[in-house]
Amino acid sequence: MTAIVAPDRVGIERACALLKAGEVVAIPTETVYGLAGLALSESALLKIFEAKDRPHFDPLIAHIALPRHTVNILDYVERRKLVNLERLVGKARDRLDDVLSALWPGPLTVVLPRAAGVPDLLTAGLPRVALRMPAHPVAQEILESVGAPLAAPSANRFGRLSPTTAAAVAEELGDRIPLVVDGGACRVGIESTIIALGDDDRFVLLRPGGMPKERIEARLGQPLVLAADATGKTPMDAPGQLPSHYAPERPLTLIDSIADLDAAGGAPFGLLTWESRAVALPPGSTQLALTHAGALDEGARNLFSQLRALDRAPHTRIFAERCPNDTGLGYAINDRLRRAAHRGGA
Ligand code: TXA
Ligand code: MG
Repeated sequence: MTAIVAPDRVGIERACALLKAGEVVAIPTETVYGLAGLALSESALLKIFEAKDRPHFDPLIAHIALPRHTVNILDYVERRKLVNLERLVGKARDRLDDVLSALWPGPLTVVLPRAAGVPDLLTAGLPRVALRMPAHPVAQEILESVGAPLAAPSANRFGRLSPTTAAAVAEELGDRIPLVVDGGACRVGIESTIIALGDDDRFVLLRPGGMPKERIEARLGQPLVLAADATGKTPMDAPGQLPSHYAPERPLTLIDSIADLDAAGGAPFGLLTWESRAVALPPGSTQLALTHAGALDEGARNLFSQLRALDRAPHTRIFAERCPNDTGLGYAINDRLRRAAHRGGA
């Protein structure tokens, strides 16, 4: 079984010693818990894929430490030996500089041209690498003291719900990893937003997430290109876009409002409503609410832990009400609910 340690000096030293020795350790970030390992070590990366049962075609995000002193963010990123920004000049370079200066550290991942020497396993052989600077103080302390970038996918078995507490990590990977650092419940609760720099120097939204897309667009001064256009074609390789992902084990049905709930038949079920309210349900059913009064950040924070709780309750199916607001974090919440509901054979 895995050990769960507090994020005190002893716990962090133990985590860093394991990481430096090429082992994997689950660490808290402000979005979800990550399963960390050295980003530039093939053998550490293999251990991450193995613990998660993750297919090698799905690349990982490299996490980097906060700079210790004030520096130009792009110079700093280039010195981490992960990206090659030679081709990026003029306005396009200024735009990226501005976005990263304003929005890092935080729940934003940026996919950029990779440097030579980056392991193929990290990027699944793609020409770009994903980078994130997490804001969580424990993640930062670990990155700083390991002194090298850490790959960290969400610390769940492939395709399942991301963990937002140390206990949820233990439930997912407890028999497969040596250590979990307990940093408490994740503040954001939903994975980072991923944007990628396209060949035309515009940014593509690969995954909505904890950084509202409107905030990124306001900073860029231009709209993000959506990953799947109307024809369903993706403007670039976006391997993480599987329709079924972030899924509970029980079948989940998405409803627009509880008025659409078909409680006929009388079998008990799990129900996740957007706001808390009284609903008449068959006896033995479980009802949870994502928010008290509709705050989007509260809904994001509770999403995975409540889906996980409903998945544990003794029902055969789950209904979840869509977030009525499809902007900001609501857009990311609805993306996750849609993928949790998709059972297209994946
Ligand atoms: O908030 C987060 O991003 C969390 C925490 C732990 O940092 N991490 C996370 O990692 O969600 P993961 O591996 O569960 O999801 C990362 C997604 C995957 O869908 C992957 O396909 C995509 O990022 N990705 C990674 N590298 C990529 C690349 N080079 N090009 C396109 N997509 C990439
Ligand atoms: Mg994941």
